Amino acid sequence: MRLTKQEEEMLSGKQGNAVRKSMEILTALGDIYGAKKLIDATSVQIAGVSYDNLGDPGLEFLAEMAKDGKVKTLTTLNPAGMDLENWQNLGISKEFAEKQEKVITAFRAMGVITTCTCTPYLIGNCPHFGEHIAWSESSAVCFANSVLGAYTNREGGPSALAAALTGKTPEYGMHLENNRQAQVLVELEKPLRSTENFGALGKAIGEKIGNKIPLIIGQDKASLEELKSFSASIATYGGTALFHMQSITPGKTKTPKEKIKIRQKDIEDALASLTAEGTSDFVSIGCPHASIVEIEKIARLLEGKKVTKEVWITTARPIKRISDMMGYTKTIEDSGAKFAADTCCVVAPIKGRFKQITTDSAKGCFYAASKNKFKTRIKSLEGCVKEALE
Ligand code: F3S
Repeated sequence: MRLTKQEEEMLSGKQGNAVRKSMEILTALGDIYGAKKLIDATSVQIAGVSYDNLGDPGLEFLAEMAKDGKVKTLTTLNPAGMDLENWQNLGISKEFAEKQEKVITAFRAMGVITTCTCTPYLIGNCPHFGEHIAWSESSAVCFANSVLGAYTNREGGPSALAAALTGKTPEYGMHLENNRQAQVLVELEKPLRSTENFGALGKAIGEKIGNKIPLIIGQDKASLEELKSFSASIATYGGTALFHMQSITPGKTKTPKEKIKIRQKDIEDALASLTAEGTSDFVSIGCPHASIVEIEKIARLLEGKKVTKEVWITTARPIKRISDMMGYTKTIEDSGAKFAADTCCVVAPIKGRFKQITTDSAKGCFYAASKNKFKTRIKSLEGCVKEALE
């Protein structure tokens, strides 16, 4: 890979140990994927924040990088393993909380903005069309490439941190126009509405086409909440980092020859496959993290009522602040439901605590089953609240 004089200096260690290590990661990645050069990354989002996933080796790596590393570009974090301000309320142990705090302290020392969310685009880390960025959370990557029209590969935690500390990322994959063309035409039988149906759509398409890039036609419009649900689901069940949706995705693509059809029956089958019998002992809304529109809706549905089971609303801290300001938090907490800001039902250490989860997220169902061994039920947001009250 061709390096500029300044990049050579970074690699030689002239800018410190963390920058040298970062350049080693980026040049190794560039060599593996055949990148010709590094490009500027104007926004970074780092996954691998929960101590549940990092463990002590991850924490040690971060502490080492924090000795002399400082971010060179706007950088935010993926969800942590707990609500950083209110972890006791979620039943998190003191030992876990101490370790998680150390992780956050290391990131903060490097100048990372420690808002922990998988929806950075809702809280001010919102790149525009054509911007080259380095994000790691799969749902956010898919949203950035497909809805915002930014250019990002799906970074691992270390390569995203390396991009933050150097302001650089290797130019390969999704950064190159040729690799962003649709490969399969996906025709919908009829347009869909609602987050759980968009989650089911992501599952249905993802399982049919794997990580190929779809061009989806037949969906006339979609809300931000539906698109974040779809981005999370198609990335989980298929693996693509980009979809083209007619009238949604900015930029152009060729129309591919390969074609599939998604019928209403495929959506119903996807929903049925994620829905066990009986009622759940846990309800969680906010995968990806809930928007203020969703929180307002939840507050309206819970007003003056009491939930009968553990209920988590997972969201970004700045969105929770808006909810506090608007009085939605009080309404929701008066019902007995809990906010779980900075975290989510997948990255928090809750394996074994519940038997069955009800959520409106297809991605949430996937990880609740595979990571936490919960049975799952997928419902609309309204259906989730109804079940919380049953
Ligand atoms: Fe976000 Fe956690 Fe879902 S990171 S996309 S809320 S699994």
